[in-house]
Amino acid sequence: MSDISSFLKCLPLETDRLRIRQYRMTDHDKTLQMSQDPMLRKWIPSGVYGDEEHKEYVLQSSSDSPKDFILEDRITGCIVGEMTFHLWFVERTWEIGWLILPPYQGKGYASEAAKELINVGFGVMELHRIIATAQPENPASSRVMEKVGMRREGLFKQCIPRPDGTWWDEVLYAVLAEEWKAAG
Ligand SMILES: CC(C)(COP(=O)(O)OP(=O)(O)OC[C@H]1O[C@@H](n2cnc3c(N)ncnc32)[C@H](O)[C@@H]1OP(=O)(O)O)[C@@H](O)C(=O)NCCC(=O)NCCS
Repeated sequence: MSDISSFLKCLPLETDRLRIRQYRMTDHDKTLQMSQDPMLRKWIPSGVYGDEEHKEYVLQSSSDSPKDFILEDRITGCIVGEMTFHLWFVERTWEIGWLILPPYQGKGYASEAAKELINVGFGVMELHRIIATAQPENPASSRVMEKVGMRREGLFKQCIPRPDGTWWDEVLYAVLAEEWKAAG
């Protein structure tokens, strides 16, 4: 129930305004900004992708073992952003994440999509725990975690190595299946 093939069977997912679906190779050009905009990826640990990395990324995301998923407007089909959802080290424990294109930020899209993934994760896939991480300098991301019912569990100091030799701190949030059930 909690492997990637079970999650892929749930796709596409629909919320009030959004559709969450798998990447397709035809998304290559439309998703370049998400891979290559330095401001948008300022707090994404993998950084900005080059052209070849973006091609490989779209290929991998279109395969049967993706980690990231397209978020699009249900009505217009325009790409709004992407959501990360994948196994995180321990069985029945998945990581969730988000990236929303600038024109769509601040409209509740990340929270709307994250709530849907959490509902599917616990309600359908029978996950035990869902976690999310962000840098302390990215409060919008931590705010999304709080809005979808996640608890801050800790701050890891200098745990993400950067190409320039510096280290990022990271906050970790989580929600357990029992907390999700209790919140109704
Ligand atoms: C983080 C991100 C995904 C949020 O997406 P979004 O769709 O704008 O999120 P939502 O609208 O659902 O919620 C954002 C919340 O953060 C709040 N917020 C935004 N900027 C903030 C800031 N500088 N400080 C504190 N809170 C902030 C918003 O007010 C909102 O909370 P509210 O509804 O209580 O007012 C988006 O800003 C983004 O894509 N950033 C670049 C990529 C990125 O950093 N991804 C996360 C990596 S960990």
